[in-house]
Amino acid sequence: MYLHPEFEKLTRSEIEVLQLERLKKTVSRCMNTEFYRKRFAENNITPDDIRSLSDLYKIPFTTKQDLRESYPFKMSTVPLSQVVRLHSSSGTTGTPTVILHTQKDLDEWANAVARCLYMVGLRQGDIFQNSSGYGMFTGGLGFQYGAERLGMLTVPAAAGNTRRQIKFITDFGTTALHAIPSYAGRLYEVMEEMGIDPRRDTRLHTLIIGAEPHSEEQRRRIENMLGVKAYNSFGMSEMCGPGVAFECQEQNGLHIWEDYYIVEIVNPDTLEPVKEGEIGELVLTTINREAMPLLRYRTRDLTRILPGSCPCGRHHKRLDRMKGRSDDMIILKGVNIFPIQIETILMQFQELGNDYLITLTNEEANDLMTVEVELKEFSDDYHHLQALTKEIARQLKDEILVTPVVRLVSKGSLPKQEGKAIRVKDLRKTLI
Ligand code: COA
Ligand code: AMP
Ligand code: ZN
Repeated sequence: MYLHPEFEKLTRSEIEVLQLERLKKTVSRCMNTEFYRKRFAENNITPDDIRSLSDLYKIPFTTKQDLRESYPFKMSTVPLSQVVRLHSSSGTTGTPTVILHTQKDLDEWANAVARCLYMVGLRQGDIFQNSSGYGMFTGGLGFQYGAERLGMLTVPAAAGNTRRQIKFITDFGTTALHAIPSYAGRLYEVMEEMGIDPRRDTRLHTLIIGAEPHSEEQRRRIENMLGVKAYNSFGMSEMCGPGVAFECQEQNGLHIWEDYYIVEIVNPDTLEPVKEGEIGELVLTTINREAMPLLRYRTRDLTRILPGSCPCGRHHKRLDRMKGRSDDMIILKGVNIFPIQIETILMQFQELGNDYLITLTNEEANDLMTVEVELKEFSDDYHHLQALTKEIARQLKDEILVTPVVRLVSKGSLPKQEGKAIRVKDLRKTLI
């Protein structure tokens, strides 16, 4: 049974009882890994020290760096023969991260996504189209399995080819679509070019938008353009993918499923809990995962817990829409990129100096990254410069998965700042 109505409607005290029971189980499962055994020993704690939910604070944080150092399988609490899927972060420069799943993990993930989709009114009989990248992007398979679990006809359209995407919408009678907010704008633009009026010519009524920060204004714009209700979906690969937190029909905050996660909001500098309702970094502990549970994982996403209760009747806490990151990760076209990945590629070219600038723009519904990089020495060898530009762009695309525009500029021409160099200029409109 995918809906777990008994979990969805838990009262606060029932949530806390369940969380403690699941936290204890999770902590003892974590002792199957050398990583957590060592962490606990270094901090002089044992699983028996976790007797109440407030004992969670005794456990040290887990970070992305920990995941990198445990690559690929060191964080597994089960023998590899019980792992049926892995998702990995992109990139070849630094060490990537890997998330492992047992069959039960995949089932629970699909249940969580199905629960979210049901919450916003989708039902068997709806036709659900997914414009996420598949493969390693968890928005692909995550929504696929969740939508199928709900019994919807599910169209794995995947990213790109907007005209074909629109043809599917009209031909199949797609009623619900998952698209990142910036891509929703692109879909509308191409619909206009094709003479398609989404209200008149499609059956779309629901859009699921997520994977990148967006404002309330942007949501309303998407709703008006496409004639739909748009719901904010939050997730991340480390926590499975989509299905972590989702707006209900009130569209006022994202319910985070507390039978799956324990939520904390901490000050990213001091790592102390913030005052109730204040913005800080989201820290999550998985309590319903087998292969790779994570204790107090620092997500680096900035948000707050909304005060008060939700008129929908669910008692699972609500997160405010994401306010940004406490690290320098960029999200472009739904792809996560760290500037260091770009720097590492650039620094491999002898011809290039140390200064570069990444500019993000979104002219006419097309998100774009421009990488300007200084040449070490003056050159007027046009053919060589052209070939060099092409090769840099190719290598960057391999690394970050999106296509940048590369511009070689002469030495000393990029603006210099006092102190720490500014590497990223985000000029995208209505970002947050
Ligand atoms: N979702 C779906 N399609 C997208 C997209 C997105 N986030 N971003 C761009 N596209 C479309 C473009 O509109 C274009 O199609 P069109 O010309 O028919 O309109 C096509 O993909 C190629 O885009 P382009 O910007 O030229 O390519 P790129 O090389 O810079 O980016 C992508 C390549 C699109 C494959 C890459 O950005 C991607 O896979 N994005 C999806 C990531 C994702 O699914 N994230 C969600 C995780 S939950
Ligand atoms: P990934 O691991 O590729 O799924 O990316 C996860 C990251 O995408 C999160 O840590 C957030 O930074 C971002 N993200 C996902 N969903 C949202 C959302 N609804 N709003 C803002 N940012 C989001
Ligand atoms: Zn609600």
